[in-house]
Amino acid sequence: MSNLMPARSTSPPGPRGWPIFGVLPRIWRDPLRFFTEVARECGDVARIGLGKFTLFLVSNPDLVGHVLHDNAKNYWKGKGLAAAEIVMGQGLATSKGEEWERQRQLIQPAFGSHQIAAYVPFLCKAVRDLLEDWRRRARRREAFDAVDDMRRLALQATCRVLFHSELDPATHEAISRGVTLANEKINRSAWALLPFLDSFPTPFNRRFRRALEELNSNVYRIIREQKATTVHHDSLLHRLLRATEANSEAGLQDRKIRDEIVTLFIAGVDTPAHALAWTIHLLSRHPDWAERVSAEADVVLGGETPSMENIEKLGITERVLKESMRLYPPAWVIVRTPFEDDVLGGYSISAGSPILLSQYVLHRHPALWEKPELFDPERWTAERAASQHRFAYFPFGGGSRFCIAQGLAMVLGKLVISMAAREFRWEAADSRPVVPQPLTTLKPKHGVFIRAEERIRSPGSRSSPRKRAPDTEAARRRGN
Ligand code: HEM
Repeated sequence: MSNLMPARSTSPPGPRGWPIFGVLPRIWRDPLRFFTEVARECGDVARIGLGKFTLFLVSNPDLVGHVLHDNAKNYWKGKGLAAAEIVMGQGLATSKGEEWERQRQLIQPAFGSHQIAAYVPFLCKAVRDLLEDWRRRARRREAFDAVDDMRRLALQATCRVLFHSELDPATHEAISRGVTLANEKINRSAWALLPFLDSFPTPFNRRFRRALEELNSNVYRIIREQKATTVHHDSLLHRLLRATEANSEAGLQDRKIRDEIVTLFIAGVDTPAHALAWTIHLLSRHPDWAERVSAEADVVLGGETPSMENIEKLGITERVLKESMRLYPPAWVIVRTPFEDDVLGGYSISAGSPILLSQYVLHRHPALWEKPELFDPERWTAERAASQHRFAYFPFGGGSRFCIAQGLAMVLGKLVISMAAREFRWEAADSRPVVPQPLTTLKPKHGVFIRAEERIRSPGSRSSPRKRAPDTEAARRRGN
């Protein structure tokens, strides 16, 4: 259904709700199920009543493209950003207009392909340290939560971009705690019925405040230290320091830089961590695909430290990651609000009405995907992917506000999965089903508990295998 149709006089169909709360109780109970059902029952545009408020769920890729790309100038992130602003201030993810354009131009180079290639040796070292840990756990047959490990890695990667260095363990822990509570705060506020309770000194709000203060004091300390240092390099923090130095007073400058740093922590830790944890979960349930990823690692990486050149050749690993983000998109919903009235799917949408575009809903929509619930990385062969609508799949968003770190996230993902699969197999170590919990990102509700088992490498790999070869695809191809 095209957004170019003349507006109808009726409003879009929508689910029925209670007089005061509207459908909020259903959203609270199971948001993923609720939005999926609404999209199936009501079609491309659904009207959702939340007591006094109304929002629209848009579930057609043409219309997603219209909002994020074609008519993006008419949309902003909306009032729902208020909670995010408490944490991130006016950083890249929350700013708008000319201020956002200036920030994006300043920050974008830190995520360019040249810079990403320069981060690779560090990322490899961080992964190798983690795998050393896994080796110890494998020998003890110890179960562990992959989410924790992936969060640690993701935070290390973000610190590399920001500071070109690692954090000491205490600062790492404090920042990690701050990010967890900040995300929880943003999530609670998003679906709160009584937003004025947001600032009440409830036990949660007190914990959040303490964690935010701790996060801030660490970030301000790092800024002070870097200002005082005589060693100057091309880290994002130094770039920000140079850019703001000339045109604002010291306090304001620190505040702006703090906002950018905290924004990257909030946006850049749980998203890749959850993408990787979901991928490990899927590979632990699909040993055939785990074996293919391992075999590819044997052939492409061998026993070498990965370089940008061979990371680019990890086609099977990339397909697995893409399929994992289709089924479990870490960013599961994007919100936009029109500045002026618009027409979507033939319905008039008035200025100020929040619009939800849900990756989770679109990525599993039966009209867009064959067997949508099936984990099938073959969907991502070049030929099959080319026939897919551009906005049927948008894990990194779209239009000018697409994820600034998409390239880094994919390189990190391929590196972690491939290096880990070269050495280990995973098996599930939790009898509970691994179910998604839609917070600010789509989190595995009880974590991803797994056991790692050291793998027998194929004989042709350039490494020194510990044991003899398995029946891998690489071995088969060589006729062994
Ligand atoms: C698998 C990993 C990731 C996923 C799925 C992801 C997803 C997204 C999505 C969907 C958006 C657009 C949000 C919107 O339009 O409202 C976004 C924006 C953003 N992401 Fe990511 N992200 C990932 C990793 C990262 C990392 C590692 C960083 C930083 C280190 C990061 C930083 C940002 C920032 C700053 C924005 C705002 C960009 C702007 O508004 O100009 N993301 N991300």
